[in-house]
Amino acid sequence: MKIVVLSGGLSPERNVSLSSGSMVCRALRQRGHSVALVDLYFGMEGRGVTEPAQLFDAPIPESFCKVSAQAPDLDVVKASRQDRSASQFGPGVLDVCAMADIVFLALHGVCGEDGRVQAALDLLGIPYTGSGYLSSALALDKDMTKRLVLGHPDVVTPKWETVDCSAEDLHAIADRTQLPVVVKPLDSGSSIGVYIANTKEELLNALQESRKLGGRTVLEQFVKGREFSIAVLEGEALPAIEIIPKAGFYDYANKYQAGATEEVCPADIPDAWQERMAASAKAVFNTLGLAVYSRADYIITPDGTAYFLEINTLPGMTPTSLVPQEAAAVGIGYGELCERIIHASLDARKKGL
Ligand SMILES: Nc1ncnc2c1ncn2[C@@H]1O[C@H](COP(=O)(O)OP(=O)(O)O)[C@@H](O)[C@H]1O
Ligand SMILES: [Mg+2]
Repeated sequence: MKIVVLSGGLSPERNVSLSSGSMVCRALRQRGHSVALVDLYFGMEGRGVTEPAQLFDAPIPESFCKVSAQAPDLDVVKASRQDRSASQFGPGVLDVCAMADIVFLALHGVCGEDGRVQAALDLLGIPYTGSGYLSSALALDKDMTKRLVLGHPDVVTPKWETVDCSAEDLHAIADRTQLPVVVKPLDSGSSIGVYIANTKEELLNALQESRKLGGRTVLEQFVKGREFSIAVLEGEALPAIEIIPKAGFYDYANKYQAGATEEVCPADIPDAWQERMAASAKAVFNTLGLAVYSRADYIITPDGTAYFLEINTLPGMTPTSLVPQEAAAVGIGYGELCERIIHASLDARKKGL
């Protein structure tokens, strides 16, 4: 097949996405496909090509492969684009996508996981992987997701309040909020902008940071317990993976620096816990109308309650990512996983999902 792997983009998670994209590209090439790995925001820029078609089979730039310890500054990224266009699609991106049998979305976070790229590709008649535009948008919005699943018999989500840090008085928010609390920008990912506040001062600092990241912020009750993630692939849950950071919580550095976090898959847990998370993750998947695959995050308290935190519609495919490890635990290799996602997505698009 001719496949475009879209990655990068103007998202705080662009480096993670470039790493996912590189792995996906390599795996699909190994399986005999003709693959163009394309940075959504830069397109042909910096790739040494003059025609979009030359991106197929172009080498994978070394800079795409490794995730640095900190998320990139997007103002610096913007300033380095040469064509000065306001479009989020870099030069040649839409042309190369139109040449593909399918576009594999290796994008994460805003600009890729939020439904806008999916909507654009729908209008252009170009098939892509994963969920459709509406469910993607709902799933990236942590407040909307929690509202939609609230009250479902299989889903428990921690109490929360959504505030607008750019419009509200931060001291008033801090005064009424019970501590400890987790501060999460509404549409963040990779733990970017996520803070665990134990004191009022920490909360005020976190709210100030949230102001810089758009303002709308979820304040979620802190849950103490063991952390897990569980994928749904083509309607079935995979074995949950336990996440044990060596220090601190599962933040950006602990997610992508090899060895910073111990991951155990299948997790060493009672069957009932696996079943509880599987039922919950499938319920969230179906409630939001997701397609093909997803990965949901949980914390389980000692009494066995599985608290649903959030669901990802384009989960990471990097060397330290969780879905490939869950798939491997049931004998699905990385390349096979990519191909299953592609075939299931072609089916989903035909059904109008
Ligand atoms: N309510 C919570 N209680 C305790 N820890 C949390 C809570 N919510 C999030 N966390 C921690 O923050 C991390 C990131 O939060 P998450 O909701 O998964 O957002 P994202 O991964 O999109 O940045 C989680 O993996 C977990 O370690
Ligand atoms: Mg998460």
